[in-house]
Amino acid sequence: MAEHTLTAFKIERLPKKLQKTFHALYSNGDTTETYLKVNEIHQGDARELLARIEPNSVSVSVWSPPYFVGKEYEAYLTFEDWQNLLRSVILLHFPIIKPGGFLVINIADILVFKDPEMPRVQADAINKKRSPVTREDVLNAMKKHPNYSRYQLAELLNCSEQTIDRRLHGNNIRGGKHEPQTRVKIVGGMVEDWALEAGFYPYDRRVWVKDAAWENSRWASLSYRSVDEFEYLYFFWKPGITKYDRNRLSADEWKEWGSRGVWEFPSVRVNDDHEAKFPLELPRRVIRLLTDPGEVVLDCFMGSGTTALAAIQENRQYIGVELEKKYVELAESKIKSGIQKSLISESRHKNYADKP
Ligand SMILES: C[S@@+](CC[C@H](N)C(=O)[O-])C[C@H]1O[C@@H](n2cnc3c(N)ncnc32)[C@H](O)[C@@H]1O
Repeated sequence: MAEHTLTAFKIERLPKKLQKTFHALYSNGDTTETYLKVNEIHQGDARELLARIEPNSVSVSVWSPPYFVGKEYEAYLTFEDWQNLLRSVILLHFPIIKPGGFLVINIADILVFKDPEMPRVQADAINKKRSPVTREDVLNAMKKHPNYSRYQLAELLNCSEQTIDRRLHGNNIRGGKHEPQTRVKIVGGMVEDWALEAGFYPYDRRVWVKDAAWENSRWASLSYRSVDEFEYLYFFWKPGITKYDRNRLSADEWKEWGSRGVWEFPSVRVNDDHEAKFPLELPRRVIRLLTDPGEVVLDCFMGSGTTALAAIQENRQYIGVELEKKYVELAESKIKSGIQKSLISESRHKNYADKP
């Protein structure tokens, strides 16, 4: 694949309000660098590498960023850093997406978001009262032994010191007395604001229903919160001419998922080589719906290479960006064996077809 130079990129082509941000990002003014090659995974920070993709060349960019849920690969980010990362990455997409093309973000709300300002949730856990000691028992004991400490009262009543405390103060402080409280952080509004700021328009939103994560719901027994079992897909459109082709999917596919707001397929059960892979079906559907064969698909949080595999399977080209070397190597080896497998099955088909 021939490399192009960056001479075609002009900050002046961007919406006026973005030009200042981009001047800072492209401040070295170097136009002799080469564009990132397609059909390769590039190791580095998306905030640096996206600026090196050929302008107006990507038909769809589909990715799932760090979710700010305490994974190993996002340990380098504070919540502010995380917001800045997503905002910059979305801004950097505007020049590289084709006019009429799409940016599709797979993301979830942060379900256990620490908020030190949040008042403590006081839970009267009716079904959890294991000790038969009542508030009245404690008050009677205190009357009889006014100088007893909580520990002595506990010994006398054959219960724990926490039970004495709970019966006297009538509450259970969730998550301990010193830990900040956790709440849900809804991310859709922030993502929408960053996309609008970049020049994109919200085009569609879908929900991916995955398996319910019962084993991760540590609050399920002492709260009214639901388990983690769905994520979002936000589709953003770059103004321009968008081709609509009903032949991209079969009539059944349009009915089953192409025109449906809820997509249901299982998540990746074995995350043995990467902590947070999405299933191949997710980028595959996005790619089939929004691109034609031969077009370029981008994933700037490539992880284990799922989007590249889906692109190859659907005869599209891909550009991958990934920060961690070990994941770049993982993605490359998966792509290599994916290509080998498809060559083998192609030759099997061919041999079969060749047979008289
Ligand atoms: C949610 S995972 C994506 C998983 C991927 N969709 C898959 O199926 O394997 C997010 C990925 O972003 C990478 N990452 C984190 N910060 C990054 C950055 N600043 N630039 C590029 N990649 C980054 C992480 O190493 C991680 O592999």
